[in-house]
Amino acid sequence: MTSNFKPIRKAVFPVAGLGTRFLPATKAMPKEMLPINDRPLIQHVYEEARQAGIEEFIFVTGRQKEMLEEHFDYQPELEQTLTSRGGKEDMLEKVRSSEMPAGKLFLTRQPRPLGLGHAIWCAAKLIGDEPFAILLPDDLVLHEQGCLTQMVDVYNQKGGNVIAVKDVPKEHTKKYGIVDIGEKEGNITQVKGLIEKPNPEEAPSTLSVVGRYILQPEVLGYLAAFERGAGNEIQLTDSMAKLIGDQPFHGLEFAGQHYDCGSRLGFIEANIAYGLDDEEIGKDVSTLLTKYK
Ligand code: G1P
Repeated sequence: MTSNFKPIRKAVFPVAGLGTRFLPATKAMPKEMLPINDRPLIQHVYEEARQAGIEEFIFVTGRQKEMLEEHFDYQPELEQTLTSRGGKEDMLEKVRSSEMPAGKLFLTRQPRPLGLGHAIWCAAKLIGDEPFAILLPDDLVLHEQGCLTQMVDVYNQKGGNVIAVKDVPKEHTKKYGIVDIGEKEGNITQVKGLIEKPNPEEAPSTLSVVGRYILQPEVLGYLAAFERGAGNEIQLTDSMAKLIGDQPFHGLEFAGQHYDCGSRLGFIEANIAYGLDDEEIGKDVSTLLTKYK
């Protein structure tokens, strides 16, 4: 779709998190390398970003995260071994599915875990002065048309800022950014306000922010103030809230099932769902599940 708005070319992937909920699995391995079906979380979101037309991939990493860079590199030994064994074209395809084109991966570090807003601010120089996307690898959305692609469509109509949103039970508002809902137009909601992790009785609605964002670069100016918010962290939500009123701000209730892979239950559910959705093993996964009813 053609649009008058600047294209979304860059995406930021905050991957500096410690992954404490998955210890001991994440003692030496980044949580973003945990696999859902046949690929790590980080590759799922990378592929979603590519489908949405993203050209530059910015990782905000930290200590012990080198494996993430390796995963997106060229692996000549592995390719040679597979080639020399012959007839392994499908395997080669799999290896190459996470080879990032030269000059497209950018790395910056978040030295201390000061919050999601701080992580994004660490990428400010690489983002520059253009609108950009953020994808949190903990959040997966299973749908043929990726969540970010759906959001880019909304952005191309409305401009400004677009976030992915979904309804949650009232008792869960404390886990998410929550939207103060304005006018609704089908699955698109005007965002009147945003609050990070409110108690149910203070929450303006039950519409929560899912980890997909298209934001204008002005948000970086607000983040630079390093103001602490919920949990004494520098929250992205607080800086996003400051854009409201000055710029269009919409929430998209996206199509597809969302999985919170940052929790063990969500992670297991995602593995079941992606397994069932797999062309090769889907039927067998379904049969397997009958054993556990
Ligand atoms: C972050 C955001 C929150 C959002 C959530 C989505 O929270 O701060 O607004 O709803 O991601 O996954 P976190 O999960 O890092 O606590």
